[in-house]
Amino acid sequence: MTDSTQPSLLPEDLPPEFEADLHEVEADADDTAGTHDTTMETIVELCKRRGIIFQSSEIYGGLRGAWDFGPLGAALKDNVKQAWKRSMLQLRDDVVQIDASILMHPKVWEASGHVQGFTDPLTECRTCNARFRADQAVQGDASTYECPRSDYSLCDFGPARQFNLMFQTHVGPTQESGSEVWLRPETAQAMFVDFAHVQLTSRQKVPFGIAQVGKSFRNEITPRNFIFRVREFEQMEMEFFVRPGADEAWHDYWIAQRWNWYLDLGLRRENVRIRPHAADELSHYAKHTVDVEYRFPFAWSELEGIANRTDFDLTAHGQASGKDLSYYDQARDERFVPYVVEPAAGVDRTALAFLVDAYRVEDAPTASGGTERRTLLKLDHRLAPITVAVLPLSRNDKLVPTAKHVADLLRGRCTVQYDDAGSIGKRYRRQDEVGTPFCVTVDFDTVEDDQAVTVRDRDTMTQERVSIDRLPAYLDERLDLG
Ligand code: GAP
Repeated sequence: MTDSTQPSLLPEDLPPEFEADLHEVEADADDTAGTHDTTMETIVELCKRRGIIFQSSEIYGGLRGAWDFGPLGAALKDNVKQAWKRSMLQLRDDVVQIDASILMHPKVWEASGHVQGFTDPLTECRTCNARFRADQAVQGDASTYECPRSDYSLCDFGPARQFNLMFQTHVGPTQESGSEVWLRPETAQAMFVDFAHVQLTSRQKVPFGIAQVGKSFRNEITPRNFIFRVREFEQMEMEFFVRPGADEAWHDYWIAQRWNWYLDLGLRRENVRIRPHAADELSHYAKHTVDVEYRFPFAWSELEGIANRTDFDLTAHGQASGKDLSYYDQARDERFVPYVVEPAAGVDRTALAFLVDAYRVEDAPTASGGTERRTLLKLDHRLAPITVAVLPLSRNDKLVPTAKHVADLLRGRCTVQYDDAGSIGKRYRRQDEVGTPFCVTVDFDTVEDDQAVTVRDRDTMTQERVSIDRLPAYLDERLDLG
């Protein structure tokens, strides 16, 4: 926990609830026994069929590396962001949020090192002119790249050159020199550039964090694996500013916090691991980084990087802008440039991991006493696009008004879908497949007799009779909203 080159960590630098056992976290890095009920093809097919995620500009043939989130996908993504904001902002008082501009002064990207160094090695095939990541594509090996001609024996890769991943565009009506700007490739830089302003106006004292959720853009050479590697994506990043010397303990702390977040929201433990970066893998700004990785059907792959960025960024921006980005610690009568610990996660990848992990196929009993296969997403209710489906047994005139009244009763507290199309069995399956935790059925007893509804649990398929009066409180309790 202590930095051997610095005085030992003072207890007031860490919040009291810090109890993480990092040894346990690291031990999980060796665990490779994952569990999946699915393949990527199945997930892509489900997402397309249910309008969760589908190709961008599909009617024009699509655009590689660009995807659209339909109604259920947009809700899932919102819920991921909401869960992140709740844990990073709402439940703490030492992190504040910003929403910065995507277009920034070009000097930001020079000072940050992105203009010079945010590159991937690119190679071009002399036979078909297709371009690939030189560090990922092995000439002639079909498992490592997609040859457009599909004749891998004819491939002839040229020498690798560095390709900058930033998208460039122009501000103003002309494309003359000096008008170039970049679409941000990470949300992080605004948190450094705005550090002094935000610290002063929010009256935060180091240690504290600035968080942001928003779009980033990277001109990836080979976007792949559905929404895993794309050219336009959302990030959830937080820069936590600490006293030099306290950085390593805070790094451990944030690794533990973020690990717990993924498990708390339901990722299966055997499918998540923490992998420290090797020295030759570290970004130019980082002293130590670990990745939170998920065991996707295609490979263990990064969901989030948690980096110790030292004072690299504040120092670089301080020097390039001529502004003082140091911090005066009144209690210690000490001035320093804060070190930064950065948990940086991708919304799209995280949503994909939750989808893959939640996917199950099970045997379910039928009304006639047999069994049938049912597909379900065992999503945590905080992530499920729809929380409660309200289903009248049929479109009968007596049932519909009551069912609509029940739906209205619940709308303020969670996401409700009213559905009266098809047999009740089919409607249950439809809701299971998109992860709706509860179905509420209105039948003839409801309107003629007991003013009660049937609440069906997605995972156990058990059904409980609950009076309409008690339904909001009942669901609050089941959803832990109370
Ligand atoms: N500020 C540090 C930073 O941007 P990063 O590891 O390059 O670090 C953070 O990105 C996260 O953003 C990744 O862990 C990943 O979840 C997401 N991400 C990065 N590139 C992505 C891409 N091309 N497609 C989808 N998500 C991406």
